[in-house]
Amino acid sequence: MRVLILHGANLNLLGERQPEIYGTQTLTDINELIRTAARELHIEVDFAQHNSEGAIIDALHAARSAYDAVVMNPGAYSHYSYAIADAIASIPVPVIEVHLSNIASREAHRRISVTASACTGSISGFGPRSYVLALHAVAQTPGK
Ligand code: DQA
Repeated sequence: MRVLILHGANLNLLGERQPEIYGTQTLTDINELIRTAARELHIEVDFAQHNSEGAIIDALHAARSAYDAVVMNPGAYSHYSYAIADAIASIPVPVIEVHLSNIASREAHRRISVTASACTGSISGFGPRSYVLALHAVAQTPGK
């Protein structure tokens, strides 16, 4: 099984960005944690990070012929990008949305995820382990 880990806007700054909310681990640290979990689950993982909406959409389109699933943290795009939601709905590949923070307990504008509505499922609030939990979910529930 091949899974694309797709990080969205501003996640390249993890470690220095609002550490009181997102923790002190960098994106490289988090990718290493994911890589270790993936190895144990016999999942092959690739990583991408894009700040722009169009690049995220292009990555989702390309994933449809290259991956069995996508684990994605769209960042703030989650809360308003109907274009990314449409891209998720347009591909046959299951997409699991993850958030480091518990978006349900944050500001009103973060409590809605328009992209999660197009996803197979979502995991939020477990810090970097949200990604690991999503990997377990895709390992156990293949198919959209
Ligand atoms: C986030 C939550 C979003 O609201 C925020 O804009 C992010 C990070 C998270 O992982 O908790 O960039 O997606």
